[in-house]
Amino acid sequence: SDRINIAIDGPAGAGKSTVARMVAGQLGYVYIDTGAMYRAVTLSAQRLSITAEQEQRLSDMLHSLRIDLEPGVSGQSIFVNGEDVTQLIRSREVTRQVSYFAASAVVRKVLSGMQRNMAGRKGVVMDGRDIGTHVLPDAELKIFLTASVKERALRRFKELPADQSVPLEQLEKEIAERDALDEQREISPLVRAKDAIELDSSHMTIEEVVGSIVKLSRTKL
Ligand code: C5P
Repeated sequence: SDRINIAIDGPAGAGKSTVARMVAGQLGYVYIDTGAMYRAVTLSAQRLSITAEQEQRLSDMLHSLRIDLEPGVSGQSIFVNGEDVTQLIRSREVTRQVSYFAASAVVRKVLSGMQRNMAGRKGVVMDGRDIGTHVLPDAELKIFLTASVKERALRRFKELPADQSVPLEQLEKEIAERDALDEQREISPLVRAKDAIELDSSHMTIEEVVGSIVKLSRTKL
């Protein structure tokens, strides 16, 4: 075939979404940000005061949610039942809670089903935590993208608008907490797939990371 699927997994702030979007751009593939989908579910639940433990309410909510991903001006836009929530899902409130909702069996089941459907025709670059291990175990290329906690916190720090500034130490703490929750959950925890290639981006530029993934993808065609 002339198209493959590429899975990019790794901890928070390793640069997965930037890298995945650029790789997709260079290859003419579709980029799918699965973290945005977990965030959209979190936002929707928060609005309805549903907690991560309320399986039945979550299940009802999920079955009435339509999530659409569309290529936008700067990256990808995400819509929930037609509403553009691209900005809203980046709030600290969502960021702080998302790992709890992502640990829910019903949430993972519904979202991974949607993600598998999206990748059915190949030519997809999907980033997340469990893409290579669980969502697309047959992806032709799997990358596990990491960076030190310090470096990841620093990148987040630089991205924050001045009016939302948070001390660097606080960001480090929140990133480490989210990693721990994602790595320790029972269902589809964050772990490197056995056949994934690990790239540590701590001392690499974005262009270098993108270049090496594009090069690797050519070896899989
Ligand atoms: O990638 P991002 O940091 O936006 O993901 C937000 C959260 O969504 C992660 O911390 C994780 O809890 C959850 N997630 C997941 N599985 C994925 C993608 C994201 O559990 N495939």
